[in-house]
Amino acid sequence: METQILGNTPENIKKAAEILSGGGLVAIPTETVYGLAADALNGEAVKKIFEAKGRPADNPLIVHVAEFEDIERFNLVREIPGAAVKLAKSFWPGPLTIIMKKGSAVPDEVSAGLDTVAVRLPGHPAARDIIRAANTPLAAPSANLSGSPSPTTARHVINDMDGKIDAVFDGGSCAVGVESTVVTLAEGTPRLLRPGGITLEQLRSVLGTVELDSAVLSQLKEGQRASSPGMKYKHYAPKANVVLLKCGDEEFIDYVNANKGVGVAALCCDGDEEKLDVKCISLGSRGDYAAQAQRLFDSLRRIDGYGDIVTVYSRLPSTDGVGLAVYNRLIRAASDISRIRRYSSLPPEAVEKEGGVYEWTIAMIIPFDLIGIAPGSVPVSLKANFYKCGDLTAHPHFLSWNLVGCPSPDFHRPEYFGELLIER
Ligand code: TXA
Ligand code: MG
Repeated sequence: METQILGNTPENIKKAAEILSGGGLVAIPTETVYGLAADALNGEAVKKIFEAKGRPADNPLIVHVAEFEDIERFNLVREIPGAAVKLAKSFWPGPLTIIMKKGSAVPDEVSAGLDTVAVRLPGHPAARDIIRAANTPLAAPSANLSGSPSPTTARHVINDMDGKIDAVFDGGSCAVGVESTVVTLAEGTPRLLRPGGITLEQLRSVLGTVELDSAVLSQLKEGQRASSPGMKYKHYAPKANVVLLKCGDEEFIDYVNANKGVGVAALCCDGDEEKLDVKCISLGSRGDYAAQAQRLFDSLRRIDGYGDIVTVYSRLPSTDGVGLAVYNRLIRAASDISRIRRYSSLPPEAVEKEGGVYEWTIAMIIPFDLIGIAPGSVPVSLKANFYKCGDLTAHPHFLSWNLVGCPSPDFHRPEYFGELLIER
């Protein structure tokens, strides 16, 4: 199959709509990432999306509409909850997906057998024009091969999908750069399943209580049920190993330079490039998480473009605002997460105990598979996995450590606090 590239013209809006009405696949621009669209009411057309992407059949798709009224018009949901109306008023058109109980018109191929459906009203004018012209809602996952970074330009789509789909509509590069925020209203208290351009703080300002699904800041254990099936798959991974470091700016620079070599690269912030002795790609200015989100997937793809990168280091951002979305995508892309601290000298907060023993509290990373243990519990098996980066238990003056609790038990942050005893 030859994949047509359609420029952003009114004729091509019609052309894209015709392909979609005829049961074909068109990659369409949205403000988040490019979506691989098919007629959401045509189960046979939707099946082709799964084939083209190599997507597991149990991972449901988002249904895109051009107007709020389309949700009722096309019988997409059983009923529209009041909270959905509030969210739509505040954030649609925009990067927010709302999960509701599914209506009778939604084929099983779209919902992957669940009794819920994800609905989004995108902000990109071309996306809405194509939906209007096709006169049907469009099912569209991100238009990448399953497991690769989501595409934020038509070129990224072509790199993954050339020859597999009918057309790509080129609407420029995506403004948000990470996929939409996904919130479920289908089961009691609203819960954030995937962070994106609409932040948890914004959702709470409209709805009051919004829970954060535990999978957002961690990876799921084998066999653990995912609220959003997509969360159980490794995602966004370039071919190089992404290693995340949770540390200060200086420590990041020092650590990467200490580990420099052929095949090493870093994702960094503006201004770090001159201090780093490895290939660098800046995500944007420090603390500007919206800018970092916008460039993240393109940067991950560029790393593979270098051809020879084996390891790429990145700092983990804060989880505030859009930082939460960057954090979530990075941990999905990562092969390893480490906390870097230097213990060559005692940290300033160390308190002298009897017999030349010092004690202080550290935040430490524990392996993903232990996240979810009750706060305050002390899993003995932790010792073996403690500190992937330079095993402190092998430190000549290491005495002992204890897990003492989770700083915010409701938030499932992957940091727990431990007490570490090291002899001077
Ligand atoms: O920004 C976006 O959301 C883009 C653009 C194209 O709209 N789309 C996108 O789709 O990212 P996709 O398929 O790559 O991600 C959709 C996520 C998946 O993790 C999927 O499991 C989840 O939403 N999802 C879809 N329907 C669901 C449902 N009924 N219940 C729970 N999770 C659902
Ligand atoms: Mg995707």
